[in-house]
Amino acid sequence: MDTRADLWIEGGKIRHCSPQQAEIGRETEVINADNLTVMPGLFDMHVHLREPGHEHKETIRTGTLAAANGGFTGVVCMPNTEPAIDSRMTVEYIQRRASNGAVDAHCCAAITKARAGKELAPLLDLMESGAVMYSDDGGCVESAEMMRRAFDYVAEFDLLLTQHCEEHSLTRNFAVNEGEMSAKMGLKGYPAVAEDIIVARDILLADYCGNRRYHGAHISTAGAVRLFREAKNRGQRVSCEVAPHHFILDESTVQGFNVNAKMNPPLRTRRDIEAILQGLADGSIDCIATDHAPHALHEKNVEFSLAANGIIGLETSLGLSLTYLYHTGVASLSRIVELMSVNPRRVLNLPQPLIASGEPANLTFVDVNKEWVVSPELFCTKSLNTPFDGYILKGLPVMTINRGIVTECKLT
Ligand code: DOR
Repeated sequence: MDTRADLWIEGGKIRHCSPQQAEIGRETEVINADNLTVMPGLFDMHVHLREPGHEHKETIRTGTLAAANGGFTGVVCMPNTEPAIDSRMTVEYIQRRASNGAVDAHCCAAITKARAGKELAPLLDLMESGAVMYSDDGGCVESAEMMRRAFDYVAEFDLLLTQHCEEHSLTRNFAVNEGEMSAKMGLKGYPAVAEDIIVARDILLADYCGNRRYHGAHISTAGAVRLFREAKNRGQRVSCEVAPHHFILDESTVQGFNVNAKMNPPLRTRRDIEAILQGLADGSIDCIATDHAPHALHEKNVEFSLAANGIIGLETSLGLSLTYLYHTGVASLSRIVELMSVNPRRVLNLPQPLIASGEPANLTFVDVNKEWVVSPELFCTKSLNTPFDGYILKGLPVMTINRGIVTECKLT
């Protein structure tokens, strides 16, 4: 749907959605959304909420508040917690902690116990407790044999495996992309081919195990984009996501030992960015996901090679995507909605929020033309590790409605 309409929401449900004005009672609150675009609630399928175990970086409460402040109504939290999300107990703990908030928080459970790569986690039990996908994120399932076993094991229920694609034997102690910056700065590099090798391996395995569902997390290389495009063209059931920093910033951002530009996978080259933009435009890349990775100051403000990997992303994702994809003509507004709302839920087989009468109100209100300055002191996340501090962006989340809760976004 792409139209101007009046929306009337009551008891968390859309009662009326039509170009005709709703006939409302005097007690109804009126929100003037004249210059706003209403999107189905945005969804981020890759965030680190850090709880349990790393509450000094983020909690389920602060992380979901940050999500709503950034315009999201749903997230998937990743399993590299302490303990890892590898048991029914941990999934249920997270669900309970998130149950009263404005954001639907789903779990990505681990593929292997404690994400150690040695033994499969109880995947079917995790499915029954509500996990929506499986990954050892933060690290890669190193053994092809283990990955094959996981593909075979989930076949009966057609579960989704997602991979942090990194051939660890090629990336030990890396700090930056392997190339110009690693040479100039004298730091150990992470070659793009270390990502491509795992993407290629897993695509081959997914095919070999009977065209299994497979999703590439935070891909960053031209090679990975090409491999996903080719696999899709062959009819494989694969999908992938990219984080805003990987379609905006190149490896030179780490100059001056900028620890807020250090992440895994690292920022790559202009050539990789061009390939990612092409993939976002032509459908080879399905989703934008932030890899929201909060870290405390004492974990970031240390010698570059020792600084923790990752940046926060929930409260800048929409602004960055609108600025660098929509306002540059790479993606239309409906493509942005696909990348940030429709496709993540489609990949995860979750119900789609529809903007129609009778449907639950799961909405994000956006001012697509509003210019604003990124000010991390206004963020709800506990951490400050962003390279986008001070950026002027065009496009601002204004409000979300979900589960009957209205959240006004406060980024300016
Ligand atoms: O930069 C990253 N940070 N990449 C990951 O894969 C993990 C994440 C984290 O958990 O901090």
